Amino acid sequence: MNRILAVHGSPRGERSHSRRLTERFLQAWLEAHPQGELTRREVGRASLPHVSEAFVAAAFYPEPQARPLSMQADLALSDELVTELLEHELLVISAPMYNFSVPSGLKAWVDQIVRLGLTFNTVQDNGIAQYEPLVRGKKALIVTSRGGFGFGPGGELEAMNHADPWLRTALGFIGIEDVTVVAAEGEESAERTFQVSCAEAEQRLLALARTF
Ligand SMILES: Cc1cc2nc3c(=O)[nH]c(=O)nc-3n(C[C@H](O)[C@H](O)[C@H](O)COP(=O)(O)O)c2cc1C
Repeated sequence: MNRILAVHGSPRGERSHSRRLTERFLQAWLEAHPQGELTRREVGRASLPHVSEAFVAAAFYPEPQARPLSMQADLALSDELVTELLEHELLVISAPMYNFSVPSGLKAWVDQIVRLGLTFNTVQDNGIAQYEPLVRGKKALIVTSRGGFGFGPGGELEAMNHADPWLRTALGFIGIEDVTVVAAEGEESAERTFQVSCAEAEQRLLALARTF
């Protein structure tokens, strides 16, 4: 079964380039995989809660099987988002660069799906916590759009990019290590410059849609 989960991280709708490129990819992916199933999860234009004290207490409760009902309620959305993630083999995330990182809605989604006992575990090794990923057999695509230029590998601003590299780290932490990044850069540059970058990103996405 080919199931793809599309997580949209931009607060913008039709004006969002990462969303538009992702939707273009999804359209091509569905054409190449007629039996494929697509689920969209909106996190850029939705109000996902920040991590709260109640969430931390519930998520890290020492006996998860005996978690009080009130704590289970504090984890209801997180449980739903984790289940949704686990039910899909493929993940595509539209992730704009905001202040060198990602929009807060996307960060909030990651905070909900990185869950002790569900997507990662801790194991003590001589008193030092070691982490064990629990998610298996998935691959991810990150489609990002940036105002500036040179944030990619080898670029002048690479060290300032805490958007897709951070997402890659967080996904790898839970076990999603097969991650591809496609970027459009220069939204704040001359229109022509950005158009070229978007066209290149689109070509990469259309090629990827056949094999993803
Ligand atoms: C609040 C905000 C912060 C931004 N921060 C950055 C940044 O740190 N670096 C950058 O290159 N572009 C930055 N941009 C530009 C966006 O990355 C660019 O507009 C991108 O296309 C947004 O994604 P979207 O089109 O999918 O909404 C920022 C834009 C906004 C609105």
